[in-house]
Amino acid sequence: MSENYDVVVIGGGPGGYVCAIRAAQLGLKVACVEKRGALGGTCLNVGCIPSKALLHSSHLFEEATEHFDTHGIEVSKPKVNIEKMMARKDKVVDSNVKGIEFLFKKNKVTYVKGAGEITSPTSVKVALLDGGEETLNAKNIVIATGSEVTPLPSVEIDEEKIVSSTGALVLPKVPKKMVVIGAGVIGLELGSVWRRLGAEVTVVEYLDRILPGMDGELVKQTQRIFAKQGLEFKLGHKVTGAKTTKSGVTLTVEPSKGGDAEELKADVVLVAIGRRPYTKGLGLDAVGVELDDRGRVKTDEHFQTNVGGIFAIGDTIVGPMLAHKAEEDGVALAEMLAGEEGHVDYGKVPGVVYTWPEVAAVGKTEEQLKEEGADYKVGKFPFTANGRAKAMESTEGFVKILEDKKTHRVVGAHIVGPAAGDLIAEVVLAMEYGASAEDIARTCHAHPALGESVKEAALDADKRAIHM
Ligand code: FAD
Ligand code: NAI
Repeated sequence: MSENYDVVVIGGGPGGYVCAIRAAQLGLKVACVEKRGALGGTCLNVGCIPSKALLHSSHLFEEATEHFDTHGIEVSKPKVNIEKMMARKDKVVDSNVKGIEFLFKKNKVTYVKGAGEITSPTSVKVALLDGGEETLNAKNIVIATGSEVTPLPSVEIDEEKIVSSTGALVLPKVPKKMVVIGAGVIGLELGSVWRRLGAEVTVVEYLDRILPGMDGELVKQTQRIFAKQGLEFKLGHKVTGAKTTKSGVTLTVEPSKGGDAEELKADVVLVAIGRRPYTKGLGLDAVGVELDDRGRVKTDEHFQTNVGGIFAIGDTIVGPMLAHKAEEDGVALAEMLAGEEGHVDYGKVPGVVYTWPEVAAVGKTEEQLKEEGADYKVGKFPFTANGRAKAMESTEGFVKILEDKKTHRVVGAHIVGPAAGDLIAEVVLAMEYGASAEDIARTCHAHPALGESVKEAALDADKRAIHM
């Protein structure tokens, strides 16, 4: 059996499903092939959504155990019912997955359940999940197959005692002692979840800092806050071996720059040292699609690979490995395939760590601006001076805005604080419109709101903050 399509998208994650829906909205005949048995990709099934569900539940638990008393709320000692917490998380995931199936029906996207393989620049063979095979003929093929966990050779993942993020989202009980390898986004988010629920968590990081790539000043304060919350950091160290025993795991840890090895014991070890593009089984070799030295599909700025008619988006190509970036890629490509314009500026993709406080950033860091020799202004405002943050009893952190002195454009923002992930959106919009710090400063912000800190930081770029 074979069917003709304008676009066949392989992969039903945020890149793939959004590309499919947008292309269908624009009148193209579209199929989306997904082998997981559920739409939504890594993000919905084993990434963004389940992790945020657990982050929220564990945050509420920590509020109840540590902070209710401050608000004059007296409760008996709260207990974690892990089974119920996990069931709620699964329900959240399930309802989101069903939502995408509904959107496919609404937009007339054909959902093909199975593993796709590109057999020519115009055909995709699908090994159907229900058995059998189907060939889809396509004018355009979109590779949206996402990414997978980067393995650490000496620490083999079994998803029970040595887990990836996927295993860390389904632990059956709270471990007494957890070691996280990698102080990146996953390490800090999932490390925080299990620490809040009662685990003793040590984070081993190869570099001398956490969250590589983020603004140095932001990271320093963030690290202090996390350490105060009880995360233990072992920076400048690497794990060189792991032995699984009946009761847990013994890791061998060495200073990154050389020195004496030591042992670290844990009930559960989380490996979170990054993710790498996933293109296995797609037949890219046979069809001649080129990869770069990091396994990413090579594309031009129009998502076109070196083979005409085959495109790639999301985690499989360059740029931040983030769901919203994959979605933007998907929309831009769909619009181009329908004959419209499309473009994504990777310099304006926000990044958020959904801990509490949250950490959020967009654009250039101070380190980058210094390296470029740029002449820039800094505006900063602490949440300790924000009335709403005080009312919420959540005053840790600050907003920092960076403006280029020559162009008078905001070129970066770095926030650690309550709801930083939502606050950053205002600065992203300002940057999209080429706004100056003064433009933000002259915009009326509601009072009392956390967003006033963004306005005050913008005012501070000209040293005229009112409340500091
Ligand atoms: P994916 O979401 O990986 O989707 C690819 C899909 O393709 C998969 O479902 C896969 O089954 C399917 N596939 C692969 N090969 C084939 C084939 N041959 N045939 C058919 N189907 C195939 N990002 C954020 O922006 N915010 C967050 O809060 C966030 N949290 C995260 C938390 C965790 C624990 C993890 C692991 C990731 C998180 N991410 C987050 C990253 C985010 O999940 C990814 O950037 C995003 O999912 C990438 O989207 P994608 O469509 O490119 O790929
Ligand atoms: P990451 O790249 O964010 O962090 C990996 C960390 O591991 C780095 O600090 C790195 O220096 C360290 N590292 C590497 N090798 C090491 C070793 N051998 N020993 C010790 N440390 C080592 O990767 P992470 O946390 O695995 O997340 C993968 C990706 O998933 C992220 O880059 C992000 O794109 C996405 N993600 C996004 C989230 C969000 O937007 N909130 C949440 C979770 C994941």
